[in-house]
Amino acid sequence: MLKGRSIICPDDLSIEEIDDLFLLANDIIINKESYKESCNGYILATLFFESSTRTRLSFEAAMHKLGGDVVGFSDFNSSSVAKGESITDTVRTVECYSDLIVLRHPKEGAPILASNVLDIPLINAGDGAHYHPTQTLTDLYTIYNYKKKIDNLVIGICGDLKFGRTVHSLIKVLCKYKNISFVFISPDKLRLPDYIIKVLDKEGIKYIETDNLDNMKDLDVLYMTRVQKERFFNEEDYIKLKDKFIINNEVLKSAKEDLIIMHPLPRNNEISSEVDLDKRAVYFKQAKYGLYIRMALILKLLGIK
Ligand code: CP
Repeated sequence: MLKGRSIICPDDLSIEEIDDLFLLANDIIINKESYKESCNGYILATLFFESSTRTRLSFEAAMHKLGGDVVGFSDFNSSSVAKGESITDTVRTVECYSDLIVLRHPKEGAPILASNVLDIPLINAGDGAHYHPTQTLTDLYTIYNYKKKIDNLVIGICGDLKFGRTVHSLIKVLCKYKNISFVFISPDKLRLPDYIIKVLDKEGIKYIETDNLDNMKDLDVLYMTRVQKERFFNEEDYIKLKDKFIINNEVLKSAKEDLIIMHPLPRNNEISSEVDLDKRAVYFKQAKYGLYIRMALILKLLGIK
């Protein structure tokens, strides 16, 4: 039962619960009309202390498509946080006006702190370099739609593996599926943090870490990420690393015909725009799947049949 639960970490959902969300998202896609009043009378609050296009707008669009209403802010300077109000006081106040809160915050751990003072569910929409569980649902739902399975895949993850919260979330959940192996492609300075490596080792997952694209031919999924400028202390380091890996038509010559190229977006230069025309590029479809899986999640957390 997901009703009333907060979603803070990717581990907050079991594989069975994720499968149920997929089934509901499938039904929403097929029977859109029958869901358009499902959330009548409910209010979703989106509190974004960091910039966002996809996560905030897809949650807001999801709630509108379900017949509910949305309140919130996308710039905390327009809220009383700018006057020094704490995160816990802010969410306790917003709880008075809403049924479900979606929170993005630059500090790791802010969503758990906030959810601890709430009686309504809270969804972590990204906390610092930590986790982004609804991006993970979006990513899994995309893989499931294209591959018709999530087991037995070779998954390449490329770019900023140190700061990329979408990567950390996705790896944690993929470890629960059968016979997944990973190729982690990053500059040495942007390798996965130790706590994720420990999860992989503990689960006995097969992986290699590399600083080149030589394994392209082996991949079923290529998950690209941008180098996270906002998490660097030093602009010089960022500039040195930002264009280390660029996927273009030449690089893709050795890739499988049925590879899927994913990206949580936004992108910078890491996928050349010529790749957008390649049938293997699915990142905009991925953004669309994010809408349906978030509609499904809202319904489940609110306990609406
Ligand atoms: N993928 C993702 O989280 O995008 P936004 O930062 O635009 O929400």
